[in-house]
Parts: sequence; structure tokens; C-alpha cells
Amino acid sequence: MKINMKINNKPVTIDVDPMKRLLDILREDLHLTGAKESCGEGECGSCTILLDGNPVTSCILNAIHAENREILTVEGIAQTKAGKLLIDCFDETNAVQCGFCFPGFMVSSYHYLMYDGEPNLDKIKHALAGNICRCTGYQKIFRSLYLACERWQKR
Ligand code: FES
Ligand code: FES
Repeated sequence: MKINMKINNKPVTIDVDPMKRLLDILREDLHLTGAKESCGEGECGSCTILLDGNPVTSCILNAIHAENREILTVEGIAQTKAGKLLIDCFDETNAVQCGFCFPGFMVSSYHYLMYDGEPNLDKIKHALAGNICRCTGYQKIFRSLYLACERWQKR
């Protein structure tokens, strides 16, 4: 089945099994390997993308869910002004952790920055609650998003 969607602001049409997982389409068919598979059950957030502006876990969505929708992946986010600010803040605060959880944290952080953006630690913790780190911890990530929010407001 032909599926039409917009990915990182570019129109894309692919011919796939409509039940193929969206995460697999991104990684295997479109070579957008930023979203990672960890739990594969919609629980950990490492495969997070934005679907029509909302954070979703792409491991539990199928191709058909993407029909005529807009997808923003971590690769697209990294090209935006807000994405670049986030990268700088993550870098400055040494918040970058492993490559599995981090792309998901980046997508959820971008969503918070765009749709709320208040430098408020409680809200930031809530916004990142769907992203799980199994090893290192959350404090530096919370701090870097807080810093990004402060800078975004002052820009
Ligand atoms: S891999 Fe999708 S939520 Fe964990
Ligand atoms: S799972 Fe990525 S740093 Fe812990």
C-alpha cells in the first residue's frame, strides 16, 4: 500500500505493508536511525518522534497511522533553531548519555520547549516522564532543558 506522509518537512511516499511498524519504516526504509528500539512495547520512549506535533512512541504505531500525517524525527529537530539550542545546552551541561535513550529525550525536550517552554523543574520532569534511562540518571538532562528554556525565552 502506498503511504503518503511528511517527514522532517519533506513529502514522502513509500510502498509498504500498512502494518509495518513506523519505527522500522523510519530506520529501515528511510534510513532515519535516530529513533531507537529498546523496549519495543511503548514504555521507554527511546523511539519517540513527533506525529502532528505530539510525542508518540513509533514502536507501537504502524505505517497506516502515518498516512497524511506530519512526522518530525530527531534528525529534523537537530536542524531547527530550538534543536540547535538544545544540543548546545545538553553539551554544556554534559547531559548527553547513551545513544539509546538520548534521541527520545531530545524529541521530548524539543516538544516541551516548543509547546510550553517555561523554565520550571516540576513541569520539565513531567514532560520527560515518558523517557526512561536505565543507567545514568536524569538530573543533568533536567538541568539542560531548564537552561534551554531560559535561553529560549530570552532570545
Ligand atoms: S522502544 Fe518504543 S517505547 Fe521503548
Ligand atoms: S539508558 Fe541511556 S543513559 Fe541510561
